[in-house]
Formats: sequence, structure tokens, C-alpha cells
Amino acid sequence: MNHADEDVKPFSRQGLYQAVYDIIEELPFYRAATALHMQWIRSIASRRPLVIEAGGGTGLMNTEARRVRRDADVYLLDINPAMAEQAERQGVPRGKIVVADVAEMCVRSRSADHIFSHSVVWALPLPDMFFAEAQRVLKSGGGLAVSTVGENLHAYRQCFISYLDKYLSAAVERGVVSPEQKRIFIEQNERVTEAAKSPLSSEQLRELGERDGFDVEVVTDCYVVDTLEGPRPYYHQILYRKR
Ligand SMILES: C[S@@+](CC[C@H](N)C(=O)[O-])C[C@H]1O[C@@H](n2cnc3c(N)ncnc32)[C@H](O)[C@@H]1O
Repeated sequence: MNHADEDVKPFSRQGLYQAVYDIIEELPFYRAATALHMQWIRSIASRRPLVIEAGGGTGLMNTEARRVRRDADVYLLDINPAMAEQAERQGVPRGKIVVADVAEMCVRSRSADHIFSHSVVWALPLPDMFFAEAQRVLKSGGGLAVSTVGENLHAYRQCFISYLDKYLSAAVERGVVSPEQKRIFIEQNERVTEAAKSPLSSEQLRELGERDGFDVEVVTDCYVVDTLEGPRPYYHQILYRKR
């Protein structure tokens, strides 16, 4: 695979390293984001809701969503077939995985009760296309839950990379992750975060949603990074409601 392919399919090789994802899933920032997404999924009022994860990657949160809402029909959408394959290996049913762009979800209009997305919007060149598509796909009153790296991405991404590095180095010491897996994961994160297209402040995220016909219900931070200047918000997490 050449570099141009990797730009079209971000994180293309990361799906190969499940041992690394087993560590990421346990990190405090990821657990906090997952807990809030699951709280919002549990609170969907309709019975047997249609839930879509936009940019679901290897299926970590998708599996959790299925566990906390057994009556729900939960789909995973991802642009990268390598991630989709990994999600299937991790137990996401094949029929619930769709290889698609979040800007064109291949889902019927006004059919979904809830869409959630973790750590995807910051990588999108045109995030407004995702919001417009979510608006099309959701039923009236449906929820759109987004967690994404905010405006501090470029200033503090080294702090975040060091945070990942600390936990992965400990996993290498324990022998559960190989030094090669850690190196590739960290290198790819450095590359994709450097090229990040849309690190948005919580205010920009609010405006983006409101422009596309959403009301904002909750705005919070799921990860605050420790920097030399003190704690700074890094991941924002927002719940929108389609008007
Ligand atoms: C940082 S990973 C996060 C994966 C997953 N949400 C998680 O939390 O483990 C970003 C994911 O978004 C996917 N992605 C990036 N751009 C996308 C797009 N335009 N449409 C669909 N998926 C996209 C990538 O392939 C990757 O799996």
C-alpha cells in the first residue's frame, strides 16, 4: 500500500494490531468516552433502536453498545476495509459491518435512532458533510453523539502521544505487546495527528451541529491532557439532538 492509499484510508494498518487495541480500550480516556457513549445509548427511549457507529474501527465501542442495549440493532460503518475485517474477527457480526464513508452512510433517510462516533471527526477534511449526512439519516428527535480531539490537538498532541507511549511501554514490558507493534502504532498516530484536518473547539462543534439542524444537549470533555502549562481539554464529547 502506498502513502496516497493511506491518506484515503487513515489508520489503514492499525487494524492489524489487536493487542494494542486491547490496551487502548483500558486507558482512562477511552473508558471515560466509552462510559458516556454507553450511558447515552442506554437512555435511547425507543425500543429496538437502530444505532449506527460512524467510523467504528476495530469495533471496541460497537461490542460494548451491543452488550448494553441487547434490543438494539447496532451497525458499524468504517471507510477502511482492514478495520472492518478486524471488527469482524473481534465478534462484530458480518451483516452489521458496512464499509462506507461517514459522509455517505448508505442508510435510509430518517431511519436511525442514534449515531455515535469516537475519534473520527478530527480526521475528516469536511466534517460538515458528516453532520449533514447524520441529519439525513436520523429520525426526528434522534441523538448524535460525538467525541473528538479538540482545538488543542496540534499544541499538545505530543503530550497525548507520550500518554499512549507510557501505557504501551508498560504492555511491552509485560510481554503483551511487541516493541514492533508499539512502534508502528505510535508512528502512525504521530503521522495522522500531524495531518489532522479538523480539530474543533467545543464552540465550533456546537455551531457545526446547530447549523445542520441539531440542538446541543450535553458538552463535556472526556480527556484532559496534563501539559507543562497545566491541564488542557483534549477530547470533547457532545450529544446533539435532531430537531
Ligand atoms: C482513531 S480511529 C477510531 C476508531 C473507533 N471509533 C475507536 O474508537 O476505536 C478512526 C476511525 O475512523 C475511520 N474513518 C476515518 N475517516 C472516515 C470516513 N470518512 N468515513 C468512515 N470512517 C472513517 C478510520 O478508518 C478509523 O477506523
